[in-house]
Amino acid sequence: MRKILVTSALPYANGPIHLGHLVEYIQTDIWVRFQKLRGNECIYVCADDAHGTPIMLKAKQEGVTPEQLIEHIGREHRADFADFLIGFDNYYSTHSEENRLYANLIYERLRDAGHISRRTIVQAYDPEAGMFLPDRFIKGECPRCGAADQYGDSCEACGATYAPTELKNAVSAISGARPVERETEHLFFRLGDFTPMLKEWVNGGHLQPEIRNKLKEWFEAGLQDWDISRDAPYWGFEIPDAPGKYFYVWLDAPVGYMASFRNYCDRTGASFEEFWSREAETASELYHFIGKDIAYFHTLFWPAMLEGAGFRKPTAVWCHGFLTINGQKMSKSRGTFIRARSYLEHLDAEYLRYYFAAKLGSGVEDIDLNLQDFMARVNSDLVGKLVNIASRCAGFIGKRFGGRLAEALPDADLYASFVRSGEEIAALYERREYGHAMREIMALADVANQYIDERKPWVAIRESGREREVQGICTQGLNLFRVLVTYLKPVLPRLAERSERFLACGELEWEAIREPLLAHRVEPFKPLLTRVEESAIEALLEESAATSAAPPAPDKEPAAGTISIDDFARLDLRIARIVEAAPVEGADRLLRLTLDIGEGEMRNVFAGIKSAYTPSQLEGRLTVVVANLAPRKMRFGVSEGMVLAAGSGGKGLFLLSPDEGAEPGMRVK
Ligand code: MSP
Ligand code: ZN
Repeated sequence: MRKILVTSALPYANGPIHLGHLVEYIQTDIWVRFQKLRGNECIYVCADDAHGTPIMLKAKQEGVTPEQLIEHIGREHRADFADFLIGFDNYYSTHSEENRLYANLIYERLRDAGHISRRTIVQAYDPEAGMFLPDRFIKGECPRCGAADQYGDSCEACGATYAPTELKNAVSAISGARPVERETEHLFFRLGDFTPMLKEWVNGGHLQPEIRNKLKEWFEAGLQDWDISRDAPYWGFEIPDAPGKYFYVWLDAPVGYMASFRNYCDRTGASFEEFWSREAETASELYHFIGKDIAYFHTLFWPAMLEGAGFRKPTAVWCHGFLTINGQKMSKSRGTFIRARSYLEHLDAEYLRYYFAAKLGSGVEDIDLNLQDFMARVNSDLVGKLVNIASRCAGFIGKRFGGRLAEALPDADLYASFVRSGEEIAALYERREYGHAMREIMALADVANQYIDERKPWVAIRESGREREVQGICTQGLNLFRVLVTYLKPVLPRLAERSERFLACGELEWEAIREPLLAHRVEPFKPLLTRVEESAIEALLEESAATSAAPPAPDKEPAAGTISIDDFARLDLRIARIVEAAPVEGADRLLRLTLDIGEGEMRNVFAGIKSAYTPSQLEGRLTVVVANLAPRKMRFGVSEGMVLAAGSGGKGLFLLSPDEGAEPGMRVK
């Protein structure tokens, strides 16, 4: 039996759980349930990430203490997770004594081993609020494009990144005051001390290949010291030997994994050392499931902290991609910022669990929730295929045979082949290839349905003397169903529970399916799952749009005849090289241009510039192209963009071109 400890990232206690978060908790929960189903010892812990400036400020805004805020949000998080059937063995908070203890212990061990240094830095300070300002809390005009109201680290209008000191007319987002620069002493974790260990660890099979490659880039850039302290006022743990200074939230956040597990041990008598001591590295397994946005913290800082403080390192850190909805980032204004709670008011949690499972693999690609596809998939797979097997057989067994299954299977080989498939399905779950596993399971469901279709029990039942045969067919069908529900149990625990009650067979377990259920009485059949209705999806989207759409700020409406910077930003203007220019038969004003628009992409564009240029004047030169113009079908072919030229009645046409030095693919801003 393996000993496994599993974590999901700790959600911030400053907002609700949304469908994006759920990719992670569902992915992890499926894996944990799978391990338990296989008979391994597997413990799943998590917690709220309850510290940091945003939580401090949000509490202030709402007129409550941070303790009250995190208590309230913590309760909502727990309820959301419970209703999505996320089976944590312990759910805790980083604002806990256990966490303070381990954060201090790790810090002190790192300090005593010489991995902490102190130095004075200059930081933006809000004289009115009396606090230092994180980059995110400074706003001003973008130094590059001048867009107003941009944050201190990057511009949402043009994508520029910069230091907060470069912002023009900067103000504090907290008080509106003009920030001043002020010196302060900070504490740093010397990550570079661990470079050799990290290089080895990163190549030791603990990470996905995509993440390993990303890390190579970070190693090449050199590992920088990490600033782990923040000045008061700050919501977090005060650093033991630095009064008035607090651990930065990301220092004590991963320690929260340990703290939650410590709390679990104290509740249950489990052994902490068995999973966290240095010796545990070979005796037990530790896995962190996270989103790709927080890989740096988990694959560099965290293993270095553990190593430096004498604890074991993770067996693996597994990243997943981000959720998009209908192909786009979740967005409040499009009504696709869907909260877990809103979803639950309209739809069954297991639909989403299944849909995510069907889409998830072991990689870091983003996954898309397309609501039409979601409905079609759930209805066809779960209702049309899986549940259908049971409902077609259960009626006859219940009504005609008093719930009794036959003494023997008519097709024992078919049953054995279903059982044999279990090993491949298990291997897929183990590797987090859930999508592949779901396809295998649904292929088996097709086989089961086909078995019933071919034997037509609904016909046989009307013919005298064929009763035993019908009982056999339905016994076979229900036994195949039982195997499939066992395979799906990690994904659909509630459907499995209902099936267990119906089959009256005790808990479904991976090993138990070797023996079919024979000469056994099942309970009366009740519907196991209903169809997804289009109206439920519509209602969910409407509600999400209504509750989350912020009304547009009046001063942001562009004046008539002008466009906003956002409108402008929607244009993808790019430098292109005209690789080839050719006349078009039957069109005396047009030239067909082949454009190199960078990154190896070629475009075919028709341009009405034949009166002004010959092909040889154009070939090789650079110009500007609108690269995101929807392709237009013309009489001579499809035009995939537009080149820009100036012209005004009869005075000629002048193709725009950039100054020397520009290259194909550069964006025009
Ligand atoms: N508090 C930190 C994690 C600390 S772990 C020691 C944090 N919190 S979070 O609430 O922003 O995110 C929690 C997890 O949800 C992260 O792994 C994050 O990647 C994941 N997701 C948040 N939004 C997501 C999507 N839209 N899609 C998929 N996962 C997403 O980060
Ligand atoms: Zn800008």
